[in-house]
Amino acid sequence: MTETQSNEIQQALKEARKIVSCARSVVVLTGAGISAESGVPTFRGKDGLWKSYNVMELATPQAFKSNPKLVWEFYLWRRKLISSCFPNRAHYALVELEKHTPEFTLITQNVDGLHSKAGSRNVLEIHGNLWRSRCIQCGDKFMDSRIDCEIPPLCEKCGGLLRPDVVWFGETLDTTILNRSINALEHAEVLLIVGTSGVVEPAASFGAVARAAGAHVIEVNIERTPRSQMYQTVLLGRAGDILPELVKNSEV
Ligand code: OAD
Ligand code: ZN
Repeated sequence: MTETQSNEIQQALKEARKIVSCARSVVVLTGAGISAESGVPTFRGKDGLWKSYNVMELATPQAFKSNPKLVWEFYLWRRKLISSCFPNRAHYALVELEKHTPEFTLITQNVDGLHSKAGSRNVLEIHGNLWRSRCIQCGDKFMDSRIDCEIPPLCEKCGGLLRPDVVWFGETLDTTILNRSINALEHAEVLLIVGTSGVVEPAASFGAVARAAGAHVIEVNIERTPRSQMYQTVLLGRAGDILPELVKNSEV
């Protein structure tokens, strides 16, 4: 990186910091990139999960119907992997930002639970949580920390098949959570989009929703995304480096 580029980044960061610290209402949208520095694999990109695994065989309702055992194997493997991962500087920066922002909503596509583990409070997990199971027969949901159970696990209440309480491709999001997200986006002064490739709907359109409602949109990513051009600010760098810098003065 040249000195000019570095100065440009510092200047952009300084301006963004001011915008974030002055805002009454901030919404943050996160994707797999924010957990990358914690050791959680992302989905796309060089070492992304969907490069080595077939999404249609592992993360669709059809896959679960035809081979629930295989789907559970994949999810227990991911639980195991994530059980040794911890929140990083980016997750903690968002905890700080929430403390200093009157209206704060954190919308995450991640199912790893690391935002809550870090201490974020107003979190909307739009793709569910890997650490929760749901009975496909009686609908019972419960937090489930098992990583070594017999698969597929069965419901203790009715004997039905349990599934991970996550959203699979081809499924719709929980309406209440989606409506709360849209409402927050429409009332946001600032939307901060961190570590998402912006290709999976409906989250991919959240930036456009907030912009149309008048928000200043700031994207943080290690590279430009197909959506970058429609945002007012793009900060290129690792979330763990950028976010602590971005929220540094948010209490003033
Ligand atoms: P992706 O894997 O598609 O994108 C991760 C993004 O994070 C990319 O744009 C990377 O450039 C960026 N990135 C990687 N490391 C980073 C770092 N250290 N700091 C900042 N950015 C970084 O993940 P998502 O956009 O979250 O859905 O994927 C969306 C959905 O697709 C997921 O929720 C999942 C997946 O299939 C379901 O499973 C339903
Ligand atoms: Zn049941």
